[in-house]
Amino acid sequence: MTPSSTPPCPPQHLHEWKVGGPDFLHLPGDGEYHLVATRIMENTSQIEEKIGHLREQINHHNYRYYVLDSPEISDAEYDQLMRELRRLESDYPRLITPDSPTQRVGAAPQEEFGVVEHPVPLLSLGNAFNFEELRAWHNRISRLLGNADFDFVCELKMDGLAVALTYVDGLLVTGATRGDGYRGENITHNLRTIRSIPLSVPPNAPPRFEARGEVFLSKEGFARVNRERGEAGQPLFANPRNAAAGSLRQLDSRVTASRPLDIYVYGLGYAEGVVPQTHWETMEFLKSLGFKINPQNALVSDLEGVEAYYQRWLKSREELPYETDGVVVKVNSFSLQRQLGFVGREPRWAIAYKFPATQATTRLLDIGINVGRTGTLNPYAILEPVSVGGVVVKRAALHNEDDIRRKDIRIGDTVVIQRAGEVIPEIVTPVTSKRTGSESIFVMPSTCPACGTQVRRPEGEAMVRCPNAACPAQIHELLAHFVSRGAMDIDKVGWKLSAALLDAGLVKDVADLYFLEKERLIGLERMAEKSASNVLDSIERSKTRPLSRIIFALGIRYVGSETADILAMEFGSIDRLARATRDELLAIPGIGPKAADSVVTFFEQETNREIIKKLRRAGVRLEEAGKPQEMPLAGQEFVITGKLESFTRAEAEAMIRGRGGVVGSSVTRKTAYLVVGADPGSKLAKAQALSTSILSEGEFLRLLGSG
Ligand code: IVH
Repeated sequence: MTPSSTPPCPPQHLHEWKVGGPDFLHLPGDGEYHLVATRIMENTSQIEEKIGHLREQINHHNYRYYVLDSPEISDAEYDQLMRELRRLESDYPRLITPDSPTQRVGAAPQEEFGVVEHPVPLLSLGNAFNFEELRAWHNRISRLLGNADFDFVCELKMDGLAVALTYVDGLLVTGATRGDGYRGENITHNLRTIRSIPLSVPPNAPPRFEARGEVFLSKEGFARVNRERGEAGQPLFANPRNAAAGSLRQLDSRVTASRPLDIYVYGLGYAEGVVPQTHWETMEFLKSLGFKINPQNALVSDLEGVEAYYQRWLKSREELPYETDGVVVKVNSFSLQRQLGFVGREPRWAIAYKFPATQATTRLLDIGINVGRTGTLNPYAILEPVSVGGVVVKRAALHNEDDIRRKDIRIGDTVVIQRAGEVIPEIVTPVTSKRTGSESIFVMPSTCPACGTQVRRPEGEAMVRCPNAACPAQIHELLAHFVSRGAMDIDKVGWKLSAALLDAGLVKDVADLYFLEKERLIGLERMAEKSASNVLDSIERSKTRPLSRIIFALGIRYVGSETADILAMEFGSIDRLARATRDELLAIPGIGPKAADSVVTFFEQETNREIIKKLRRAGVRLEEAGKPQEMPLAGQEFVITGKLESFTRAEAEAMIRGRGGVVGSSVTRKTAYLVVGADPGSKLAKAQALSTSILSEGEFLRLLGSG
């Protein structure tokens, strides 16, 4: 299926040989002339055919990517096709047709949404895939600018969806997608749900202007959306970009509102009145109007500065909370930008300096099963090793049985895999065109591969489970979780030692760790006296971890570290938590029905109560330390914006909660205080508009101190 078809090229091009070319450097004799002409004509028609084929392929993949949000090939493969087409078209410019994929920016908007005409088109960016290409771009534009010195703004290229936000007389009136660059979809109702988009701007804003930016989902937001979809048995999104696009293209904006979408604004489209003269100042100006601007943007004075910025983020992009696929380099001065102008639909004054692809294609050799700590049978892909963005990948996540079926992934398929940050690589899609017929369909085993117990798939759940609480695979996973950094942090007991302890029968549940004897440990393989002492010391040290850690470490389903914090704060001891009823739990802000049910069920189990008793006997701290906290901030809602100097967000939030306060994510009429750190976001403008009390970091500290 292609979004548009390619009309035949005008026939005149076949006469092009008459104007000459390398083949005509000598004058051919009779007969010979005819031969040469035929060869060129054949050659041209072959080229024409090749171009036609490339366009068809690209149009098909465009449609999959832009309209269906379901790509079949990797970005790198797609880029390769585009480059090939561009190369042929630049060698044979007569063969360019107006509907060639090189002549447009994206796919046509879908019909259900209203159409918005962009007064200034939303264009695309040329790419540089290595430093040589970047330097070539720099040389070209330097020449055009008469070799004058000029500076650049470097920005991270967000991997999301471009939007245009129009403000008239201080109010957001229209929000649109890029569409084909000239006409986009009207998604105002959805964009209004994104909290980082200001609905109004201060009076010094131009009377009519358009801010442009990229809407995206953080890696964590993406994981959350997919977790929820997985639990609800819905198809999973392949990557944050698709999830953001899917979320914005909702006809029902309540669905959009439930997705943690965000935006970074990166430019001004159209503006009436006086605006700054450089891109950097424009960003500062937009920031002052309450727009969210990426704090990593940097003003650099030369190409070396650009390269240093690129290298820095190439190394540390995994630490960013969102996906980025490169650096956008922009000439800072608007007058130089005007001088440079455009080539086709791409500005000469900007370029996308891309990071190495994080997608690749390889073969799915087999599907293995791993038993999780809550007994879930997790299928995973065993791949022919392939290098993705500089890392060799051999395994990939497959989520669940339904997802495998929905994506129609078969053993033996050629598959597109993707690695995003620290997230486990995953299969995006099989390449069905490469099937040979020898692929086989995956069937979930009916018994647990670790203990042989008959597995179950509870109604309404996507996961198949091993119901045997004593299943060794489950206990191993649970033990590894119990000792992990965010839980009891017993650093000397890792995955391998956990396995050895289980195999030797020294540990049957997590509490047994606290009853290990040195002599028995020394009997284990590669365990000398010294290392045995280290292991025991590290176990001993874990006895005084805060209550929230032990609650988290127990591995109760749906109780992650945040929920554990809330429960620890609320109940103050394991015993009180164990006595909590479903209703009591549900009354706590931040505790949903799944977590509430799971906590109740956990403490109903005799085996779990035994583990708690054993932990107590071992001297593990099971209550909050110190005297009961006073609650000076009881019931007051705080919202934090910007970066705080004295503590992390999580610490600040814990301090508020610890004093009885509530932490909100957006400023509403219920918000009592907005705490403002460095580089505050749009929340500040909102708080000012609502006359919410605003606290500097110092004032916030004093308020905490007085409590
Ligand atoms: S500037 C004419 N800046 O990349 C300049 N674009 O291929 C056009 N993008 O559709 C855009 N981050 O959605 C610019 N910091 C950034 C960007 C960025 C992501 C996207 C944008 C555009 C695409 C261009």
